[in-house]
Order: sequence, then structure tokens, then C-alpha cells
Amino acid sequence: MARKIVITSGKGGVGKTTVCCNLAVQLARQGYRVVVCDLDFGLNNADVVLGVENRALYDVLDAVEGRCRAKQALVPHPRYPTLYVLSSNRVLERYVSPQAIRLILDTLAPQFDYILIDSPAGIEDGFHRAASCAEEALLVTTPHISALRDADRVAGILKSYKFTSVGLVVNQVRRDRRRSGMLSPDEISAALRVPLVGIVTEEDKIFRENIVARSRAFRALAETCADLPNQARRKRR
Ligand SMILES: Nc1ncnc2c1ncn2[C@@H]1O[C@H](COP(=O)(O)OP(=O)(O)O)[C@@H](O)[C@H]1O
Ligand SMILES: [Mg+2]
Repeated sequence: MARKIVITSGKGGVGKTTVCCNLAVQLARQGYRVVVCDLDFGLNNADVVLGVENRALYDVLDAVEGRCRAKQALVPHPRYPTLYVLSSNRVLERYVSPQAIRLILDTLAPQFDYILIDSPAGIEDGFHRAASCAEEALLVTTPHISALRDADRVAGILKSYKFTSVGLVVNQVRRDRRRSGMLSPDEISAALRVPLVGIVTEEDKIFRENIVARSRAFRALAETCADLPNQARRKRR
């Protein structure tokens, strides 16, 4: 049964889609069956980041409104045979209820290991729709002060959802961090009171390619995410 993980932030542009898609690729490379579900209806671009934007015949709205089955709305990735994208490029401003999306994801869940849900920035309806479709959450932030303030707000809101786990990914960490005077990922984790599960440095490569298949940071993030249920079990003992 798929673990459903929502990728959230507070501020836009901090790397939710980048983290979501790269994590999905790494999990698929490790043999897991993965769906990337794009619930950022306003600025949906997971299909573009994964390079499948011209391959979609249906999107999530078609599945919700019964024009296709849930499975038919999945776009297979040409390079990674266990990776699929559920895009939302035709949803536009239509209202789609969280229950309708949950139904689609529940239909898909038995056939996959992970459903990664890319969510919109902010704390409006779209965020709540995405959050209410998941059982776990990853909070993405950069070390910039404006991102941290928004992440703090979201971290508080995430506590009101009964997630089985919430993990922090600090993205765009500068290699010259000490000189720039920015907080370290550990300091950010302590301030937000969210356990750190991944650190991604600021990379020219990510700017150019979106998906960095050989990224050590994303591979480590995938390994940590895959181990989270075991960690939780160990803690309970
Ligand atoms: N670690 C990184 N290094 C360099 N550029 C990055 C990194 N993470 C994200 N970006 C770039 O930042 C921009 C915003 O990222 P994106 O994932 O679209 O953010 P969000 O989904 O949170 O709005 C994109 O152009 C992306 O390529
Ligand atoms: Mg995005």
C-alpha cells in the first residue's frame, strides 16, 4: 500500500517541486513504484520538471469527473518504468474537493509504494486539499529568513493534521554558508522543531536540468524517507 507524502512549504519557489520530482526519481531508481501527484493547480509544473508534459492524455480532473479511470490518468515516465505522473494541467481554477482526490489516490494506492503529492505554496485551500490527502509530510524550506518564517507557520499548521511523520528538507543551502551568516540546517530544524531528513545544496546543475539523477543529496533523502517507518517503529519500542 502506497505511503502518501505531501511536499509542502509556506513560501513559493523554495524547491517543493524540485524536491518532489527528484525524490520520486531516486525512489524509482531504487525500484519503488512511485506516483507524483501534482496538486498545485495554479502553478502545476511537475510534468514539465519530469519532462512528460506532452505525454498526458488525461489529468487528475478527468479521473475525478469520470472521463477516465484513475490508472489511465497516470503518465508513465519514459526513462523510469516504475515512475508515473498524475498531472493537473487542465484543472485551472475549477473547484476539486479533497474527498474527490482522496478517492482517486486510494484507488491507486494498492498498486504503488509511494504517492508524492506536490502542493501549492501558502496556507489556503489548495494547501489543505493536498495536506488532507496525505498521511506524512515533508516541509521544504531554504535558509532564507522569509522562507523560514513561512515554514514556521506551516510547521504549526501541519501539527493539526494527524501525520504519522513530518520531516524537514533544507534546500538551496549555500556552500559558503558560514560567510553568508545563514542558519545551519540543524539550527533550522531545532528552530522549527521538525526533524531534519534532507539537505540539498544550491546547485547550478539543478537550475539547468531540474532532475539530477546522480544527485547524492536526493539519493540520501530517498534512503532516509524509505527508512522513516522503521525509525518510527524503533522509537516506539
Ligand atoms: N538546490 C537548488 N539549487 C539550485 N536551484 C534550485 C534548487 N532547488 C530549486 N531550485 C530552482 O528554484 C526554482 C524554484 O524551484 P521549485 O521547485 O519550482 O519551487 P516550488 O515548487 O517550491 O515553487 C526552480 O527554478 C528550481 O530549478
Ligand atoms: Mg512547485
